[in-house]
Amino acid sequence: MNHAEPSPRQDLHRFLDDYLEAHPEDVLVVEDVVPAQEGVTGLIYELTARRRSDMVLCRKIAGLDVPVLSNVFASRARIERILDAEPGRLHEVYQQRAARRLEPREVDDGPVLDLVVSGDDVDLATVPMLTHFSSDRAPYVTSGIIVAEDPDTGVGNMSYHRSMVHSRNELATSLHSRGDLWRMLNTYGERRRPMPVAMVIGGHPLFMLAASSRVPYDVDERSIAGGLFGEPLDVVRTPRHGIRVPAWAEIVIEGTIDATARADEGPFGEFSGYSSHRSTNNVLHVDTILRRHDPVLLDVEGGNTDEHLNLARIPRESEMAEKIRDRFPDVRALHYPTSGTHFHCYVALRQQRPGQARQVMLGLLGWDPYVKTVVAVDEDVDITNDSEVLWALATHFQPHRDLFTVDGLPGSPLDPSSGSDGTTSRMALDATRGPDFHGDRIVVSEAARAAARTLLDQTLDS
Ligand SMILES: Cc1cc2nc3c(=O)[nH]c(=O)nc-3n(C[C@H](O)[C@H](O)[C@H](O)COP(=O)(O)O)c2cc1C
Repeated sequence: MNHAEPSPRQDLHRFLDDYLEAHPEDVLVVEDVVPAQEGVTGLIYELTARRRSDMVLCRKIAGLDVPVLSNVFASRARIERILDAEPGRLHEVYQQRAARRLEPREVDDGPVLDLVVSGDDVDLATVPMLTHFSSDRAPYVTSGIIVAEDPDTGVGNMSYHRSMVHSRNELATSLHSRGDLWRMLNTYGERRRPMPVAMVIGGHPLFMLAASSRVPYDVDERSIAGGLFGEPLDVVRTPRHGIRVPAWAEIVIEGTIDATARADEGPFGEFSGYSSHRSTNNVLHVDTILRRHDPVLLDVEGGNTDEHLNLARIPRESEMAEKIRDRFPDVRALHYPTSGTHFHCYVALRQQRPGQARQVMLGLLGWDPYVKTVVAVDEDVDITNDSEVLWALATHFQPHRDLFTVDGLPGSPLDPSSGSDGTTSRMALDATRGPDFHGDRIVVSEAARAAARTLLDQTLDS
């Protein structure tokens, strides 16, 4: 046990204060009362329509006793700042920092233990939740990170699971990704024991990024959080099950998931842009609710928003970029566009040999669990711009020659077009120019552009 104070660098409130001071232009602070039903979602969708991705702080939400912070992850530039990455180096910096894993440091007290409610006093109506879409079944926790520990090794797992209130002391939740938490639940199920869990609602953005990384079963995402912070994650044990959760968490719900219990859950507005009924319908039985005395509800906007997609894809993109460049050094960049939700991937490369783009695409289709379509382009194409990629496809690509598909692979459970058995096809589109391509790019001289800039500055300013 460590009597040290938890490190203030891991405090979401301090992050928010510092960010507001350093980048006030990047935060929309709303002082008016915002409805709990779709109010925050409305703001985020309207900001997006204006091509803005501000972090959103709503100080007053009707019917809730806490402020709401949302859209934190909507901008890649902001995530670069949070990671101290120079612009354009997001993937490399994420990977470098995540690789420096540090085990959590246990401290004996922390703000999340300010208020502890257990047993018959537990009432999930006291946990703040928003309704995100009118098509949602109920208000949802969208930022809930379930922490659980392997019964034999104690190695932890963290993953996000949408949750709604089922009863005073039960949440209905979905484990549809069927990742490591699902595997762990099955282990507990085989031993006929409920799985102790702690759901963390709100923490520092680096902790949240660590929770969405997809790492092998024997890697504890809490050690990735340590890597991202550059210091061990400070944790306290939950009172009933002793699960190690961030000392600076805003709210924690502690309880158990029984592998056999089921409850209705969904539909919920998912990353596919569809309201999804697909759910594993699990039940989290709540024993204790812990909260800071002044929590902020850190909400993750659902649907196919940049926020939801970035949080899930940046760790995955970073891992894929590293893997693919290790094997194929001619790969220059990788980008998962918002237009493709989690299903499209663009890759830019300097092709040295015929067929190289096809090989790279095969690698990506095989490694990434969600990617359905890869488009390969030459390195001069800006893959962060959908229009440029579509132009490359329009002008460099011949369907009879430049595409291949692979059928019958496991796909995302939330892809509404996937088969009833959950399988999907995957497709590779080679939009690189290739060795036999002939074409000269049109040129607008720099002199003409400079003269036009001067003329426009004068004309538009006058
Ligand atoms: C914001 C967000 C919400 C998510 N919601 C869910 C969910 O409701 N259910 C689910 O199974 N996976 C969800 N995921 C995906 C899992 O968190 C992801 O598959 C997980 O990191 C896999 O982790 P694991 O293999 O460590 O369990 C979500 C991811 C993010 C970033």
